[in-house]
Amino acid sequence: MKFEDVKKIGVVGGGVMGGGIAQVMAIGGYDVIVRDLDDETIEKTKDAMFESKWGMKRSVEVGKLGFDQCNEAMARVSFTTDPKDLADVDMVIEAVPEDLELKQKVFQELDEIIKPEAIFTSNTSGYVIEELAENVLESRKQLFAGMHFFNPVPVMKAVEIIATPQTTDETAEVVTKVGEKAGKVTGQVKDMPGTYGFIVNRVFGAARREAQKLVDDGIATEEEIDKMMITGRNWPVGFFSGRGGIGGQW
Ligand SMILES: NC(=O)c1ccc[n+]([C@@H]2O[C@H](COP(=O)([O-])OP(=O)(O)OC[C@H]3O[C@@H](n4cnc5c(N)ncnc54)[C@H](O)[C@@H]3O)[C@@H](O)[C@H]2O)c1
Repeated sequence: MKFEDVKKIGVVGGGVMGGGIAQVMAIGGYDVIVRDLDDETIEKTKDAMFESKWGMKRSVEVGKLGFDQCNEAMARVSFTTDPKDLADVDMVIEAVPEDLELKQKVFQELDEIIKPEAIFTSNTSGYVIEELAENVLESRKQLFAGMHFFNPVPVMKAVEIIATPQTTDETAEVVTKVGEKAGKVTGQVKDMPGTYGFIVNRVFGAARREAQKLVDDGIATEEEIDKMMITGRNWPVGFFSGRGGIGGQW
């Protein structure tokens, strides 16, 4: 699958992340089909993509998205509860809950339905990508990568692209370019057995653990740590309170 051939993207799981991913992909010019389990969830996804704080309507109101651009993007998105409707997608971005067995089952089902040349990606927060690809055909494993977005997707620019030893360079390049077309900044990561998390969550987790140790050792309070990191290192929010930064008190 070449970058130019990717026209239609299947987003599997239309929750917090899937809705945002569908939104940025549609604005990026892709036809998008979102698959979730029931109509009620799909209605919530539609609402989040249009009406929420990070939705397209708000983007139009603040001048970040043109009115026509918004309408065109919405028109490019369809929704389904039937996985068979994804048969003709060129690329999948999976965003079902963080459960290894569930993700493996979802990919196995999709592998049987979707055309063999389509690329499969997962928005897992940290599972080893090779393990997620365990149940797909050998040929699909070359077309399988991680694509880790950050919450809220319409706002956070980073996307980690995770290549397994079987992911071809061509696949990693296509996934990277798709992310960039959707307005994201991409970072390349190697899949590593026995680990969890890629760059951002691992580095943040280490800093968060150290901050907690400072509290546990009685060296500083949560509030003082947040205040110092926000004003001393320009961290946009604190570890503990989420306060500060843009619109915050410091
Ligand atoms: N929330 C975050 O901040 C965040 C950030 C980065 C990555 N992630 C990762 O993204 C993934 C999704 O997280 P989320 O927060 O969007 O979860 P969520 O619970 O908000 O959404 C998951 C959606 O998947 C649907 N779903 C469940 N089983 C399904 C199936 N078999 N087929 C299709 N849809 C199905 C659910 O109905 C739900 O709408 C997880 O792997 C998570 O670790 C989350």
